Amino acid sequence: MSAFSFFIGTMHGLLQVVPAVRAWLDSIGSPYGGPGHMIDPLAHAHINLVGGVTILGMAITYYMLPKITGKAMYSQRMAEHSFWWTTIGVSAFYIALLIFGFIEGNLWLTDPAQVPAIHRFYGPVISIAASILAVGFWVYLANVVMTLKDVYKKGT
Ligand code: HEM
Repeated sequence: MSAFSFFIGTMHGLLQVVPAVRAWLDSIGSPYGGPGHMIDPLAHAHINLVGGVTILGMAITYYMLPKITGKAMYSQRMAEHSFWWTTIGVSAFYIALLIFGFIEGNLWLTDPAQVPAIHRFYGPVISIAASILAVGFWVYLANVVMTLKDVYKKGT
């Protein structure tokens, strides 16, 4: 998932510097605000930094922590949960930012009065995606803390 996220994130990064795409993103507010901000930098930052870096960090933690401590992770089930909540969360977060960015961006240029009618759905949708993503982070954190708690309780 990390490698796939980096592929999507780098393709996104490449596309957003193509002059015609760059001009369109700038015309809808990127990187400072408006629908353009959703696509660049928000979607680009999170598919790379969360989908790529953070998920790789989780994988390395789950692989190395048992080797370092000599003790299995506290819960394999929590490891699975942290993978799926983070993966579904970051995918939903990225896709929602792109969809709202594109729809509102085009309205921004063609019929700005229509933007609020779409934007009122942005808050609830992005909050649900962000909350799913956050659950993934917190389950991962809990699994690491519980593993270390066991390690230090046994005084390895
Ligand atoms: C539950 C996890 C996360 C959520 C819900 C989240 C949400 C957000 C939101 C809503 C913004 C935009 C604020 C604005 O409108 O300017 C933002 C900005 C940003 N986030 Fe996250 N984020 C999360 C995790 C992360 C992580 C783990 C990283 C880095 C490893 C990260 C890197 C960034 C960066 C670099 C920006 C600034 C983009 C910019 O405006 O230049 N985020 N994040």
